[in-house]
Amino acid sequence: MSDTPIAFQRCIAPQCGATYSIQEVLVACPKCGDLLDVAYDWDRAETPRSLAEFEASWSRRRNPACYSGVWRFHRLLPFCSENQIVTVGEGQTLFQQADAVAQFTGLNSGCLYLQYEGMNPSGSFKDNGMTAAFTHAQMTGAQRAACASTGNTSASLAMYCAVTRLMKAVIFIGSGKISYGKLSQALEYGALTVQIEGDFDDAMLRVREVCRELGIYLVNSINPFRLEGQKSVMFRVLEAMAWQVPDWIVVPGGNLGNSSAFGKAFAELKQLGLIDRIPRLAVINAAGADTLYQLYEQRGMRWNQGQVDMSVADQYGQDLDAQQKKASTIASAIEINRPVNFRKCLRALEVCDGVVRRVSDQEILDAKAQVGAGGIGCEPASAASVAGAKLLRSEGIINADDRVVCILTGHQLKDPTATVAYHTADQDHFDKVLGSRGVKCASYANRAVVVPNDLSEIVKAIRLHS
Ligand code: F0G
Repeated sequence: MSDTPIAFQRCIAPQCGATYSIQEVLVACPKCGDLLDVAYDWDRAETPRSLAEFEASWSRRRNPACYSGVWRFHRLLPFCSENQIVTVGEGQTLFQQADAVAQFTGLNSGCLYLQYEGMNPSGSFKDNGMTAAFTHAQMTGAQRAACASTGNTSASLAMYCAVTRLMKAVIFIGSGKISYGKLSQALEYGALTVQIEGDFDDAMLRVREVCRELGIYLVNSINPFRLEGQKSVMFRVLEAMAWQVPDWIVVPGGNLGNSSAFGKAFAELKQLGLIDRIPRLAVINAAGADTLYQLYEQRGMRWNQGQVDMSVADQYGQDLDAQQKKASTIASAIEINRPVNFRKCLRALEVCDGVVRRVSDQEILDAKAQVGAGGIGCEPASAASVAGAKLLRSEGIINADDRVVCILTGHQLKDPTATVAYHTADQDHFDKVLGSRGVKCASYANRAVVVPNDLSEIVKAIRLHS
């Protein structure tokens, strides 16, 4: 038995490929500056022979590592020992066949599934990644952890710090850019909240500088350990489908951590012989924050086994600067123009024969209303996945009988402002919140009925409307 560890960090650029110990705290390759993966010497790891082996862990769920929807797949992210795991019981999420939403998107009944990550303890998929980053932070002795955030990462980090008392949270947010639901979590959980002038992209740049200067552990998805945890969303999808591989995974794209993690999950499962094929991946941008779409679909950038011509992306970034173009969408969670995981996402799109689409705020909110009408609501960014599935179906890229899984990344209560404005009977309120974003109508609104405070009028109204 060699005493080299099974897990290590590795630069994603094939021409560099430098490796580092998992004990090092890195968010970029010190040699070439590219992103890092957590990599494994799978030949020496204790991997399952079949995915069904994971089912046994449920009967051992009094053990927190078996209860967690992330760590019960520990053998597929073996960078720590079981006693190092920091978990709050994340990843107990729902997978639901949604026939009404299938009909809305143009899919056959029984073909559309919602993977509802809003069920996580802090209300978004981030907890899947945070438990892994937190575990790594603990392994390296970190005292403070920071992130820039459009709201969910900060809520998740603040929650892990508050529940475990292991670290102090420092969060960076752009001014006026974060929904109250998310901000209220960070404040109540006691995070040091630094609001900077600017948007998420500005905050992301700053937090990296600050973490370098103060030696704070960074938990944004640029941190490769975060993405190890987020692989588990796909493991749970497969589990819910009795280990069958769906035809499509559709996910909103912001900083591109999820899409990157999903691509890595499927590449590894295939390499380990645990699945026989890989589903196609659709990453959906908001139209007002569509860098990935512009670079992948309009300018034809490809991973090309690591031989990417980054000058196209650099030029695009310079053009954004020259035009002072900022990301702008009602889906504030994905209001991001400079996705940090862009290169990893290109790789995932190659692994999964992926496509990228952009959807308008109107399409996002209509899709969100359809999802909510099914009783499991989501926040605007999440609904981009359903709007994207509908678009791809209308283009004939997704077939009516394909089995499609849309990832609902965040809870409905994260951002009530958009929901209330969509359903309002007050046109001025609608115009103020949504009209300014090009949303013209609310085709699926469930408007409150306004009645005088009078019994017979109330009875009349109820008779009329129910
Ligand atoms: N959906 C929600 C609800 C999110 O909060 C985010 C990202 C995304 C989708 C995009 O995911 O980055 O993996 O492509 N929110 C980050 C945050 C940026 O700070 O909370 P991605």
